[in-house]
Amino acid sequence: MSTLVIVGAQWGDEGKGKIVDLLTSRADVVVRFQGGNNAGHTLKVAGEQIIVHLIPSGILYPNITNVIANGLVVDPSVLISEKASLRERGHFLKDSQLIVSDRAQVIMPYHKIIDQGREDLLGNAKIGTTGRGIGPAYEDKASRMGIRMGDLLRPSSLRDRIYNAMDEKNFLIERRFKRPKLNPEEVVQEYLGYAEQLAPHITDTTIVLQNFVRGGSHVLFEGAQGTLLDIDHGTYPFVTSSNVVAGNACAGSGVGPNVIEKCWGVVKAYTTRVGEGAFPTELADGLGEELREKGGEYGATTGRPRRCGWLDTVVLNHSVRLNGLTGIALTKMDVLTGISPLSVAIGYELDGKPLDHIPSDITEFGRVKPRYREVKGWEEPLSDCRSFDDLPKSARDYVEMIEHVSGVPVTLISVGPAREQSILRRTPF
Ligand code: IMP
Repeated sequence: MSTLVIVGAQWGDEGKGKIVDLLTSRADVVVRFQGGNNAGHTLKVAGEQIIVHLIPSGILYPNITNVIANGLVVDPSVLISEKASLRERGHFLKDSQLIVSDRAQVIMPYHKIIDQGREDLLGNAKIGTTGRGIGPAYEDKASRMGIRMGDLLRPSSLRDRIYNAMDEKNFLIERRFKRPKLNPEEVVQEYLGYAEQLAPHITDTTIVLQNFVRGGSHVLFEGAQGTLLDIDHGTYPFVTSSNVVAGNACAGSGVGPNVIEKCWGVVKAYTTRVGEGAFPTELADGLGEELREKGGEYGATTGRPRRCGWLDTVVLNHSVRLNGLTGIALTKMDVLTGISPLSVAIGYELDGKPLDHIPSDITEFGRVKPRYREVKGWEEPLSDCRSFDDLPKSARDYVEMIEHVSGVPVTLISVGPAREQSILRRTPF
């Protein structure tokens, strides 16, 4: 057995797609265990850029089994079009490259309408969701009104479940959100069409996964979003609707906790956030703009400009504790070239008192003031560095400062978007 969980350690968009894609060359199985097509993982290979939202990042390797596990909410139309566009570009040529859990929840058209309708009604208090229906689909899972991928294979029970769910949904759509009602039979027919196309992938993924684990395969669990967007441990209510933390790799895929060996957190060398909510180290000035432009900080899913700011080690240590990180994959170090000095938040102040953790109350978190340490930057471009010793001294100091503050080794450093622009310092499996 050899397993590694990769999670985002900030607010998502840390560059997990590239890290997972890189480590995948050593994996046999890649598993997504939470979220849905709210994620956007950018993969770059041979100069080609591919963004996947739902299909695990191992899909570019023909011999890897990719798993969409039970913890996800799956939009079948997105899955079908992602598969088609990968195929068009010469990838994902065998159906056996992807299995989808029969227990995963299905995103329905009414989930998207409710997600968007609710955001509209919230006005200034909106969450800034991706509008993909993720939250309402997880709500239906908890209320036991959800449709599961396995239901797609049983037309008569699919019809019953859709009709049952839609009484309440149409009430909401019409009365609360003032939009036209949906016709349940049209929804049934649409989803039966998807069922036909997805049937070869739908199975009990827990059994397949257990067999891989027992057989000693290298299994990589690919987190989506970031720890600060976790429904329990993030900056609630400005969070996504699933548990993002490493612990959910187990419940979200159906393996026991004893199966997990290592957990690496992906940490961007600075911080970004899309959507609303407090962000203590945000740079609302020209420097924030410079980071956005140099780092190409625009959402892979919605194209929204990301808010940018300094590295925050209070956020980092929150993630270290909640995920039990055993390694840090530090990304986008190259973007910091030419910015000197650099600031790093090493603690907060709340109402004049020092604070070394994230308060659970979002209004308190909105009031914290970062305490900064200034560190020297570097002028040299990093994109050709291939070993730790190739990095200029100030960049090495930056990495060592992160290790010192977090107590976790920086196991991988990324200095550009391409696979080869990476310094792997520890073996992942
Ligand atoms: P939802 O997941 O669409 O419900 O959106 C809830 C919050 O999570 C919003 O602030 C989104 O911008 C954010 N979010 C969801 N997925 C991602 C992601 O993959 N990266 C970064 N932010 C995300």
